[in-house]
Amino acid sequence: MSAAIQPSAPEPADFRKAMGSFPAGVTVVTACHDGRLVGTTVSAFSSVSMDPPLVMVCLKRDSRTLAALSQARTFCVNILAQDQGDLAYRFAKSGADDRFALTAVEAGVCGAPLLAGSVTSVECEVRAAHDGGDHEILVGRVLRVVTDETKTPLVYVRGGFLNA
Ligand SMILES: Cc1cc2nc3c(=O)[nH]c(=O)nc-3n(C[C@H](O)[C@H](O)[C@H](O)COP(=O)(O)O)c2cc1C
Repeated sequence: MSAAIQPSAPEPADFRKAMGSFPAGVTVVTACHDGRLVGTTVSAFSSVSMDPPLVMVCLKRDSRTLAALSQARTFCVNILAQDQGDLAYRFAKSGADDRFALTAVEAGVCGAPLLAGSVTSVECEVRAAHDGGDHEILVGRVLRVVTDETKTPLVYVRGGFLNA
């Protein structure tokens, strides 16, 4: 008789290391709520559906950006370029209120700001929110995309940026 396999959850550090081996693009998700610009760095971004066009982002439940864009009901996913690593760290800095200080923005069709110099901006309205453990999964219906095909995307892997 073979012994039953007892699945055990990985240690958090092992899980983080394992997930870090999957190269990911880097985005800054922005919104405009009550006239205030908000945004944060997010690598958990993916397309979901072609028809209708849907994407998803995962944000930590305690994210201030999540709170703002859940109320704004619209957001923009700015896919960063290879030369925007500093910007990625600035928008990830905990509690920072000056994230937009050094960045040129343009108002999108839904009010959420498009970051100058990004590879692509994906403007969305919130379609659904799902439980994702300590994160929330937001599904957005895509309203418009703006792409600059001359730019190379920034890639995050094993805790650092590739070729940055
Ligand atoms: C490369 C990189 C990728 C990140 N990806 C995510 C992500 O997918 N989801 C998330 O909630 N936070 C992510 N973060 C962390 C947030 O940017 C960070 O916690 C930020 O301070 C949250 O700000 P807020 O509370 O103002 O929204 C990432 C940070 C970095 C540097």
